[in-house]
Amino acid sequence: MQVGIDKIGFYTPNKYVDMIDLANARNQDPNKFLIGIGQEKMTVADETQDAVSMGINATLDFVDEIDKDKVGLMIFGTESSVDQSKSASLFVKTALNLRPEVRTFEVKEACFGLTAALMMATDFVRLHPEQTAIVIGSDIARYGLNTGGEVTQGAGSISMLVKADPSILALNEGHSAYSDDINDFWRPNNSKTAMVDGKYSTQVYLDFFTKTFEDYKKQKNLKTEDFDALIYHLPFTKMGLKANRLAIADESEVVSEKLSKTFEASKKLSVNVGNVYTASLYLSLLSLLQNGELAPNDLIGLFSYGSGAMAEFFTGNVVEGFKQQLHPDKVQARLDARTKLTIPEYETIFTQSLADPVEGKELSSDEQAGVWYFAGVKNGVRLYKQK
Ligand code: HMG
Repeated sequence: MQVGIDKIGFYTPNKYVDMIDLANARNQDPNKFLIGIGQEKMTVADETQDAVSMGINATLDFVDEIDKDKVGLMIFGTESSVDQSKSASLFVKTALNLRPEVRTFEVKEACFGLTAALMMATDFVRLHPEQTAIVIGSDIARYGLNTGGEVTQGAGSISMLVKADPSILALNEGHSAYSDDINDFWRPNNSKTAMVDGKYSTQVYLDFFTKTFEDYKKQKNLKTEDFDALIYHLPFTKMGLKANRLAIADESEVVSEKLSKTFEASKKLSVNVGNVYTASLYLSLLSLLQNGELAPNDLIGLFSYGSGAMAEFFTGNVVEGFKQQLHPDKVQARLDARTKLTIPEYETIFTQSLADPVEGKELSSDEQAGVWYFAGVKNGVRLYKQK
């Protein structure tokens, strides 16, 4: 029996900053951001979008197409949590009318969170093939104004349905994992923005990629040429490009060209959204599925990295007819519907969104009809509403 990804939903908020504007405002050469970092736009979340609302919106993309009575598990991976105790997934359950019998909780290990959820969900469905699982990754990457990491911010969510006999990607059993207790990137409870040792984090990312990729190939007796695509967690797209360069360094021209082409297809969405932490690898997957020239059964290698640090390499095979499950026009429409912010507007919104919500103050959203948003706090309880 095959188990894997059957549906993918995506949401990113309705505002963005253009990297050329940001470079000019920060006295940087725009090519540093466009080429050196590999980003063109970054989504900005205002105070009405948080991990919960974005997760609801991503799941809304497919929830009406599934049998809700079969959902036995829902896991929410995030490092932008809104509560130290209550899981973000419970708000999603209520908003989307999922049944009370669902087992649901939140997980955390930086950007690895959604992969952790996906792995647990896959094991769950292997044991309970008549049930399905929803896994959600939802995050806002915030480093702060005028910081080195500012150009690598972003916001968004990916939600996936995991099922037996999946329609998009059948996940293969086995994986290569690697972890170490290090301080490359972290966010203590008393800080709304991340702390980071930027250059070190990029070195660890590449080191963990090499370790897990080589180990996986050894375990499965595979060669790099056997992969039809390699995709990566993309904190900024140049990071994935560097990993991909390592992967193809000793390969023939044909293999290098094939894997460079698929990498280009996989980065198209991230270039325009920015880092979405837990959801980032799966945004690469969505981008590859939409833009790559994939054939049924093609082998995709996925590299997941979460600072702190935990990495995993695993694979899946593309399922025949996967394109029918995708909605590229809807994804593009969402990106196109974003409003471009001036840098002063972005700075105001960014600062506002760092502030704690004011008790009793109702927030309104400028999103399209149907979008869920954070509406404020009443008696200490967070309220979510649909526009
Ligand atoms: P920086 O110091 O601003 O940039 O920091 P730089 O000076 O290293 O330049 C970046 C690149 O631009 C260099 O290329 C320059 O040569 C090039 P590279 O050597 O890397 O190939 N450059 C130019 N190119 C063309 N034209 C020009 C030009 N000028 C310079 N004119 C850094 C960059 C990424 C460190 C910073 O933005 C940062 O700290 N970001 C946040 C940390 C991060 O994203 N780390 C990634 C790995 S860790 C991870 O993925 C986990 C994470 O997602 C969190 C989680 O797990 O939850 C972050």
